[in-house]
Amino acid sequence: MKNYLSINSLIPSFNKALNIPGDKSLSIRWVLLASQAIGKSKAYNLLESDDVISAIVSMRKLGVKILKKKDCYEINGVGLSGFSHKNNLNLDAGNSGTFARLLCGALAGNIMNVKVTGDPSLSKRDFSRVVKPLELFGISIKTTRNKMPITVRGSKFLRPIFYKEEKGSAQVKSAILLASLNTPGQTIVKSKISRNHTELMFKNCLNIPLKLKKYKNYEIIKVEGKTNYKGFNYNIPGDISSAAFFIALTILANKSSIKMKNVNYNKSRIGIIEILKKMKAKIKITNIKNYKGEKVADISVTSSKNLIGINCPKSLNTKSIDEFLIIFLLCAKAKGISKFIGISELRQKESDRLKMAARFLKSIGINVDEKFDSLKIYGNPNLKIKKKIIIKNFLKDHRVFMMSCVAALTLGGDFEIYDKNSINSSFPNFLDLLKKLGAKIDNTHLN
Ligand code: S3P
Repeated sequence: MKNYLSINSLIPSFNKALNIPGDKSLSIRWVLLASQAIGKSKAYNLLESDDVISAIVSMRKLGVKILKKKDCYEINGVGLSGFSHKNNLNLDAGNSGTFARLLCGALAGNIMNVKVTGDPSLSKRDFSRVVKPLELFGISIKTTRNKMPITVRGSKFLRPIFYKEEKGSAQVKSAILLASLNTPGQTIVKSKISRNHTELMFKNCLNIPLKLKKYKNYEIIKVEGKTNYKGFNYNIPGDISSAAFFIALTILANKSSIKMKNVNYNKSRIGIIEILKKMKAKIKITNIKNYKGEKVADISVTSSKNLIGINCPKSLNTKSIDEFLIIFLLCAKAKGISKFIGISELRQKESDRLKMAARFLKSIGINVDEKFDSLKIYGNPNLKIKKKIIIKNFLKDHRVFMMSCVAALTLGGDFEIYDKNSINSSFPNFLDLLKKLGAKIDNTHLN
C-alpha cells in the first residue's frame, strides 16, 4: 500500500526560534531511576515519544505508579529491588535500544522472570554487549543468539564486577551502572569515553557514592551499590540529536536563521557542533548554563554556502554517533572530500546507518566509498537534485526519515518518503516544526 509523504519544493527562507523537545537519553534515564527512588519524583519537559512511553508503560507493569500531570510527569518510586509483578512478565521496549539495554541492568535485583521484546528493528540488534557484563553480576539472561526476546531474572546474591567497556557505548556502561545500584560492594567500569548522563544523575540527583577518574581515552567509574536514594525532580533540556536536523536544515536552506533555546550541551554529545565548526558552518552557542551537572545552551545557526569537507578525527565519533547521518548529508554539499574512520558502530543502530547513508548519497548523485568501518564522501557544493527519489527505509529508522526530509527541503528533487511513523520514536512533532518554518509537505498519500 502506498503510504508516503511527498516533498517537491524547497523550504522558503526563514528566521525563527524553535523549542526542541526534551532529550531522549535523559528522559529514559529519569524514568528508570525515578522508578527505583524512594518517594516522589517529577519531570518537566519529558520527551513524549514512543521510546519514552515504552519505558513508562514497562515501569507501570513492574508495579511503579506513574502519573501524567498538567505540566509534568510524576513517579512514585518503589526503591531499589522494589519492583512487584507476576512471574513471566512481558515488557515491550518497542524501537528503543537504550531503554531495552538499560532495563536489563535495572532488573538486576528483580528475582522474577521478565521477558523483554521489541519491534523488528530492535529484534535485529545485538545484546551480547550487555549480556556479557550483566551475567558477571549473577543475573540470568536467556536469549537466542544474543537477540530478542530476552528473558532476564535478577538475583538476591549479586556480586560487584570489574568490567572493561571497549565499544564506547553509553548504553553498556549505563546498564552496568544500573545493575551496580542493586549490588552490594563496589562495581568498577573502565569505559571508553561515551555520553555520561547516567553518572551525572547518580552524582547530582541521587547522591550515590560514585568516584570517577578521567584519562585520555577512557575513564574509571566506581560505584558503591545498595545506596537507596530519594526521589528527584528534573527539568529535561532539549535534545541536541533532534536539534541536529534543524541545524542542518538551516545551514543548507537559503538565507535563513534559527535559534533553539535550552538545548542539552553536554560535552559528550556535541561532536556535531565541533565537526560543523571545522566545516565552516555558522553556529553560535550562547547562554551556556550548568543544570545538575549537565550543560545547557542556546544554539543559533545561519545558512552557509561555503561548507568545506572534513577529515573527521576518530575522537569525535562517540560524541556524534546519532548525528552522523545528517552530518554526511552536509558533507555531500561541502567542497572537497570528507573522511570518517572507525564508524562501524553505525551498523549497530536502528538500521545499518552506514549502508543507508551510502545508498542515500549515491541515489542523490554523490560519490561515496563505503568500507566496513569507514566512509569517504566526495562533496559537491553545486549539488541540486532534479529527479524523483523514493525513500523506503525497511527498518523504519527515524533518523533516516528525518535526514531524507531535510535533503528534500534543501536540495530539490521530487521526494516520496515512506515510514513517517518512525519519527514517533524520538521526535513526534518533527513535521509540525518543519511546517512552522514554512516547509510544504504533502500528506495526501499518508494512510
Ligand atoms: C544512547 C547511547 C548511544 C546512542 C543512543 C542513545 C544512550 O548508543 O546511539 O541513541 O542514551 O545511552 P551507544 O551507547 O550504544 O553507542
